Amino acid sequence: EDHIISGLPLRNKKVLITAGPTYEAIDPVRFIGNHSSGKMGFELAKEAANLGAEVILISGPSNESIKHALIKRIDVVTAEEMYTAVHEHYATCNIAILSAAVADFKPDHAAVDKIKKIDAVLNINLVPTKDILASLGEAKKNQFLVGFALETSNELENAKGKLRRKNLDLIVLNSLNDKGAGFKKATNKITLIDTEEKCQSFETKSKTEVAKDIFNEILKKHQA
Ligand code: CTP
Ligand code: CA
Repeated sequence: EDHIISGLPLRNKKVLITAGPTYEAIDPVRFIGNHSSGKMGFELAKEAANLGAEVILISGPSNESIKHALIKRIDVVTAEEMYTAVHEHYATCNIAILSAAVADFKPDHAAVDKIKKIDAVLNINLVPTKDILASLGEAKKNQFLVGFALETSNELENAKGKLRRKNLDLIVLNSLNDKGAGFKKATNKITLIDTEEKCQSFETKSKTEVAKDIFNEILKKHQA
């Protein structure tokens, strides 16, 4: 553990964080979502605030709560709403960390009325959502941009591909196949990959500790 950085190294910096799942409506009572709890993003927000940053936390539906004078929480539901909220704040940010589990697809339209039960196959057409992280990679000026990757096979290769394609400065590879890691859990196992494709694997630890590891690395790399 190197704690070379002390004090409030992110004082006067603005950090944008996305967290949680998104919900994409099928009809007034149903949606497409995922098991993301939002925990990792909320821990990142806490750590950023503890380091002195002004934090914009943009979260999909989550049961997590947070109260800190430096954290402004913005609640959204859909990928489209998250995209809009993120772009309202990105230009003035120094660091952006996108940990949200954004739905990749949404129904092409939400039915106005509750869909009735029928004794037949129901087809729902799904269309792609906007890739928020990729859009930030394109719009990047001086921001230090961090993404997450969740992979079930070819983990390192896929994560490196996302880092390059989305123009990131750092990617956090989440291992889902570790016993103590993943959705709903209080722990996580990560590998950090930088632009030189240097990989750093960490032990399974609490998401609070994982957030500290991620910021240690950001502070080493980001000279703003
Ligand atoms: N992401 C995003 N907007 C989306 C989809 C993903 O901002 N519409 C971000 C996530 O927050 C994460 C990163 O992109 O930081 C990677 O997400 P992931 O689901 O692992 O990768 P995808 O690019 O969506 O590709 P796939 O799901 O096919 O692996
Ligand atoms: Ca995805």
